[in-house]
Amino acid sequence: MYLSVNERQDKLIELLATSRPLKDWELAQLSKVPRDTLMSDLDFLSQNGFIKQEKESEGKTYVFSSELQEYLQKGTPEENLLQKLPISVLGLNPREKIGLQWLLKEKIVKLDFGNITRISQTKPYVVSILEKIKEGQQLTQDEEIYLKSRNLLKDVKTSPTYLISFVKRPGDKKKITQITPQLIKSRAQDTELQEYDVTEKTIQVYPGKKHPLQVIADEMKQVLLGMGFKEMDGPIVESGFWNFDVLFMPQNHPSREIMDTFFINPELKADLPEFFDKVRDEHLKHYSSWSEEESRKLVLRTHTTPSSFRHLKLISEGKLKSPQRLFSINKVFRNEAIDKTHLPEFNQVEGFIIGEDLSLSKLMGTLKTFYEQMGVKKIKFKPVYNPYTEPSMEVFGWHEGLNKWIEIGNSGLFRRETLEPLGINQRVIAWGLAVERAVMIKYNIQDIRQIVGPHTSMNFLREFNEYVDLVN
Ligand code: PHE
Repeated sequence: MYLSVNERQDKLIELLATSRPLKDWELAQLSKVPRDTLMSDLDFLSQNGFIKQEKESEGKTYVFSSELQEYLQKGTPEENLLQKLPISVLGLNPREKIGLQWLLKEKIVKLDFGNITRISQTKPYVVSILEKIKEGQQLTQDEEIYLKSRNLLKDVKTSPTYLISFVKRPGDKKKITQITPQLIKSRAQDTELQEYDVTEKTIQVYPGKKHPLQVIADEMKQVLLGMGFKEMDGPIVESGFWNFDVLFMPQNHPSREIMDTFFINPELKADLPEFFDKVRDEHLKHYSSWSEEESRKLVLRTHTTPSSFRHLKLISEGKLKSPQRLFSINKVFRNEAIDKTHLPEFNQVEGFIIGEDLSLSKLMGTLKTFYEQMGVKKIKFKPVYNPYTEPSMEVFGWHEGLNKWIEIGNSGLFRRETLEPLGINQRVIAWGLAVERAVMIKYNIQDIRQIVGPHTSMNFLREFNEYVDLVN
């Protein structure tokens, strides 16, 4: 369907195409089309989709004098005079004299022995009003009164104002940038589909994804499940009894002190399990002191080994069977200074195996298998002292970037002194490994603060999946 548009209407479209959206009365002024004709033209053009006509408000329509129309085109007397400065009053034409009057009144210029000089950079009032008119703004009552006093404004009428904007020229085909079902259905004949530019750069989107720690923790879980382990859990807030006493850590052991342990509100006290006296007796056989008070203190667990002992107790009670392989990947808390390799809360991979034929070499083999599947190839063991294991071994992993061995865990065979009070007489091999340290080795991160805590590098985390692909 091609509509014929007359020359006048064509001119209106052209005017709108090359300007900001205009109010109907502005368009009337610019086009010099009489208002009645204009309104019927606009109705026709908007019905046929060439322009858009929106009712703005019950606005004011201004009827300006021909003088003001002239000012709009050629500038105001004030402006024209200011451009000629410095100048003597003698040579001024009548128009310029009008300008001078107003400039003097507004104290923008002064007269000095017949010479006009500028004394203020303030914009002449009429200029600022004309700027508003050019931008299509409504005038204030003061401004209207002022224009009337200068015979520039003839009348102010209130009538609906329309905002007219350009849509398309007759014969223009509208470009489609997005295909909608309605569009396909209508198969509009006056449309042309814009081709996709597949080489165009798109906006980088960072969708939600797993944190590297979670990625590794999930991977560890899969590896351990694959090695025949089952997952166990335990409380984050532990009693001194489960966190330390059961593990045969003497009550005056330095790690119990405020330095390492976060204690919970001292007014809250834990209940002790029935077999607590067995643990107490074992302590008193070897150590000099025992205080129930100390056992009942609540702490944020400093390791997940209490979870292992809670489950060993279940085994001795027959609630879980033996042999058994259990693990947990959970958060622990230590009041340590933060540095490249230490955080006050971190995650441990706890695990133990209870059964027959367990030895140190079985323990080393298990940990080697685990780390190998995790992609941590170079590990080594070093004998160490541990209150609850004998023998005990620290586990170290080789960090490429730091170019040194870093501690990644601790392990051993649980001591008879820990197992007997629980009623266990089988061997138990056990370990606690740091998830964060494994992440550091695997992704060659030299400073753990880069991925956890307030100094986290958002860019590293955003690019993390790509990073994983690179190192794998
Ligand atoms: N609980 C020890 C730690 O936090 C790890 C460990 C667990 C050591 C089990 C031996 C046996 O470092």
